[in-house]
Amino acid sequence: MSDVGTTHEDLERFLAAHHLVGAGLKREGQAPPRKGNAAAHWSWEGIYKGLMQSGKIVTVGPNGTTGMRSVTGIEARNFPIWMNAQILMPGERTQAHRNLRNETRLVCEAPPGAVFVCQYESFPMERGDVVTNPAWTFHDHWNQGTEPAIWIDGYDNGYNRGVNINERLPKDAPYQEIKKPAGYGPRTRGHARPLSGEPAFPLPPMRYPWAETHAALTALREAGEGDPYEGIQLMLASPVDGGPTLPTIAWQVQLLYARQKTLAHRHNSTTFYFAFEGEGAIVIEGERLEWHRGDIFAVPAWKWHHHENTNDGDSILFSIDDWPAMKKLGFYMKEEQL
Ligand SMILES: [Fe+2]
Ligand SMILES: [Fe+2]
Repeated sequence: MSDVGTTHEDLERFLAAHHLVGAGLKREGQAPPRKGNAAAHWSWEGIYKGLMQSGKIVTVGPNGTTGMRSVTGIEARNFPIWMNAQILMPGERTQAHRNLRNETRLVCEAPPGAVFVCQYESFPMERGDVVTNPAWTFHDHWNQGTEPAIWIDGYDNGYNRGVNINERLPKDAPYQEIKKPAGYGPRTRGHARPLSGEPAFPLPPMRYPWAETHAALTALREAGEGDPYEGIQLMLASPVDGGPTLPTIAWQVQLLYARQKTLAHRHNSTTFYFAFEGEGAIVIEGERLEWHRGDIFAVPAWKWHHHENTNDGDSILFSIDDWPAMKKLGFYMKEEQL
C-alpha cells in the first residue's frame, strides 16, 4: 500500500493507487478506468488519507489552487449521478458559486462552527446530516471550527452537456452574506409554512438532521418493519411537495438488521452508496463487493443485486438514486426476485 508522502506527486500516486483523483492535482498519467463491479468501489482508507493530505498541501478558497478540494473515484464521473468526498480545514471558506446542477452533501465528521452556506442561509454540519443545494442556489462552505470538516457530495450531471452555466461571486467579495435568521429553513418548511408557498425556481435548500433521520429509522425498527429488498429504507422528502429529495436525485437511507440478507432486484436507475455504519456486502450480478464503514460504491443500471449485512449489529447505508427524473419522464423500470 503506497503512502501519501509529502509532495503533490506523492499524493497523486497514492490517489491513483486507490483509483481516485484529487481536485487541484494533475489528472494525467492515471491508471485507466477499471472494469466490472470493481470500477464502482472506493475505500475509505484511500478517500480519508487522500483528503487529509490534500488538506495539508492543496489550497482552497478565492486565492487557492482549486475552488473545491475533493477526492473522486476515477470511474465515478462516468455515471449519470455520482459521489465524491471533500474536506475543509479549520478557518477555510470556499468561494460562493451557483450552477445548473443539483448538489447535495452528507456530513461524515465536522466540528462545531462548520457550516454550509446556501442562498444566504447557514446550515450547521453534524455527522449524518444531509444538506441540499438545488440548481441555481448560491453555496459556499465555511469551517469556523478547530478540526477538519469532511463530507460526501452527491451530484447529478445536469442537462447541459458541454455547457457549463456557472456564476461565481467575485474574488474581492467571494462569500455570501448570511441574511436569513438561524434555523430559517427548518422553521418555515415544516408543517406550518407560508401560505404563499415556495418559489418554483430555484428550489429551496434543505437540511435533514441526522437526529430526525435516526429517530425515524429507530421507530420503524421498534415496530419491526422492513422490506425484503431494502431492509428499513427511508427517503428524505422534498420540503416543497413531499416527493423525492430533488427532481433528479433521491437521498435514501437504509438499515439492514444484523446478518440480514435481502432478496435481489434490478432497476435502470443508478445508485451510489455511502457506508455510514457497520459493514456488509453487495452482490452485483454474482460478483461480491465487500464494503466497510466510509466506503463509496455504486450499482450501475439494470444489474441484479442484493445486500448482505455481515455484521452482528445493524448496518446503515446512505444512498443517492436517479429514479425521480426517470419515473417522471416515463422510463423507469424495476424487476424483483420473487
Ligand atoms: Fe458547487
Ligand atoms: Fe437497488
